[in-house]
Amino acid sequence: MPGCQRRKSLFESLQSATADAILGLIAEHKNDPRPEKIDLGVGVYRNEQGVTPVLDVVKRAEQMLLDSQDSKSYIGTAGAADFNAAMQALNFGAAGDTDRLTTIQTPGGSGSLRVAASLLLRARPGASVWVSEPTWANHPPLLAGAGLDLQPYPYYDAKNKVIRIDEMLDALRSAPMGDVVLLHACCHNPSGLDPSVEQWQAITDVIEERELIPFIDMAYQGFATDLDADAYALRHMAERVPEMMVSSSCSKNFGLYRDRVGTLSLLAADGKTAAVVNSQVNNVVRTIYSVPPDHGAAVVSIILNDDELRSAWVVELTAMRERLRSMRVLLTEALAQKAPDHDFSHLLRATGMFCFLGISPDQVVRLKKDFGVYMVDSSRINIAGVTPANVSYLADSIAATLQAG
Ligand SMILES: Cc1ncc(COP(=O)(O)O)c(C=O)c1O
Repeated sequence: MPGCQRRKSLFESLQSATADAILGLIAEHKNDPRPEKIDLGVGVYRNEQGVTPVLDVVKRAEQMLLDSQDSKSYIGTAGAADFNAAMQALNFGAAGDTDRLTTIQTPGGSGSLRVAASLLLRARPGASVWVSEPTWANHPPLLAGAGLDLQPYPYYDAKNKVIRIDEMLDALRSAPMGDVVLLHACCHNPSGLDPSVEQWQAITDVIEERELIPFIDMAYQGFATDLDADAYALRHMAERVPEMMVSSSCSKNFGLYRDRVGTLSLLAADGKTAAVVNSQVNNVVRTIYSVPPDHGAAVVSIILNDDELRSAWVVELTAMRERLRSMRVLLTEALAQKAPDHDFSHLLRATGMFCFLGISPDQVVRLKKDFGVYMVDSSRINIAGVTPANVSYLADSIAATLQAG
């Protein structure tokens, strides 16, 4: 009798998802009672007080928005045209001045990557996406979760702490024509090591030869050298290749993490194709989240379209970048003093927030247990967790851990 059968729960076949390593680390750090504890795990910028601040210029633009906004009605699938134009110019510079390019507003860089993945499945369903080994921990689940096939290309040489450029180029030469290559525009996450100008040119040569599609993830524009230098790779490629995709995020450089601000730019072979791409990408958006969130993008648009606010933003962005740089120098110097048998000079070759400290998973565990110094298993550290006040303790802790073997 149907009434006697045990009701089958919708969710009974589910197992708990694997816990996110960084979220677990944040919780562990929060519950650690030791006052000297240091968090080098979490992937956000922090100032000397350990705070991820709202930029002053963002506060000012938000006030202007509050005073002027007269509707919260839906924005279209592509978001705001003034924001998209400003972001296209910020990312591409003069190379963006073409009818071959279409840019839409997305919920952060992650939303952009997700829309790009769906578009790719429509445009070239058999293509694989080549990702650096290693890459940002969320790239594989995000892209494979959308249905894409991923292939690794060698990138970080953990022994010599350099980019494996020859092996990377060989791997790309072996990629089937028409495959897609995901590249970090700058501040490679997790290694912090970016190709030089010459290396970017060599990468572009192979991309041209093999007719590969560059898919550039730019989550840290302004965090490595400056806004223009950090966009070198994507601008160079935009001048040379017929087609490319660029995901850009305002989470870090505007400090708008939770407001979810980003763009997806698509370069097509000609203006007519770009119009088709535009209609398709808007259709993809409609089937996922319908319209992007507005607030953060409206704030960015106000800032980028006002000379005075834009200059104020560049000043704040420069201060963030310089703080990261000075903490790299401070930590490297402290380690050179306290652990002179070990070479940490690679910390200075890295840019942005991340780099590998280069210690074993076992040493990572001991640093946490014995000293309250938290980082992910791979020993990727976020340099934003270093301050003038904690650097000496941090270097002592690392030196003691290394000495213990
Ligand atoms: C390499 C890379 N891409 C994309 C993102 C996504 O940024 P968001 O979705 O917060 O804008 C991040 C964030 O950490 C990242 O490191």
